[in-house]
Amino acid sequence: MNVKDAYQEWSNQYDTNENKTRDLEAIALKSILSSIDFNTVLEFGCGTGKNTVWLEGKAKEITAADFSEAMIAKAADKIKSPHVKFIIADINKPWNFTNEKFDLITYSLVLEHIQDVEAVFQKAQLITKDKAFIYIGELHPFKQYTGSKARYNTDSGEQVVTCYTHHISEFIQAADKHGFELRVLDEWFDNHDKTQIPRILTLLFQKITINN
Ligand SMILES: C[S@@+](CC[C@H](N)C(=O)[O-])C[C@H]1O[C@@H](n2cnc3c(N)ncnc32)[C@H](O)[C@@H]1O
Repeated sequence: MNVKDAYQEWSNQYDTNENKTRDLEAIALKSILSSIDFNTVLEFGCGTGKNTVWLEGKAKEITAADFSEAMIAKAADKIKSPHVKFIIADINKPWNFTNEKFDLITYSLVLEHIQDVEAVFQKAQLITKDKAFIYIGELHPFKQYTGSKARYNTDSGEQVVTCYTHHISEFIQAADKHGFELRVLDEWFDNHDKTQIPRILTLLFQKITINN
């Protein structure tokens, strides 16, 4: 199903459905980002604000962006803070919604819906400060290899959202090409059970400072 149409519809149940991927990624994000410092954050694909709530407690200014008006409306209902700006923006279109340079960009469970990962790093390069971080939290590609995809149920049956599989090497090579070095790679398992396929992959990159 078309990604935007899916999230417009899914927004009504996104926060209340059982969703192990959503919940484990929230744990992963907090764990990875609690040890780094940042003031300004772009959260791309903020959805209903699951992670915006936590980021708001740590950052000075957050731009929370999503292309689904319905998802972002849920987030805006939850978070009333002068430090959080919600905007409608599409990752696949030009990022002309800001003149800011951010300390951190986060992508949680969104890049599986984006075909061209390299373009994401290319655009991120232009709107980040030196030594800025990029955090990615995704459904682990090992799960995707077994057929796992973003999906939800409606009265007319199960809806499967359009997804792309990105191998770990693809993220790392795209980041490297646009000046971001891998700092942390981690894998998150249901119930900490490392005999199973990991559910979540997290990657933390840092922008390399080029001295002329
Ligand atoms: C699985 S939800 C994740 C929401 C939130 N980050 C979380 O972890 O709960 C994916 C979100 O990405 C958004 N999204 C998907 N493709 C997008 C695009 N091209 N531009 C902006 N947002 C997009 C969807 O609208 C949806 O809100």
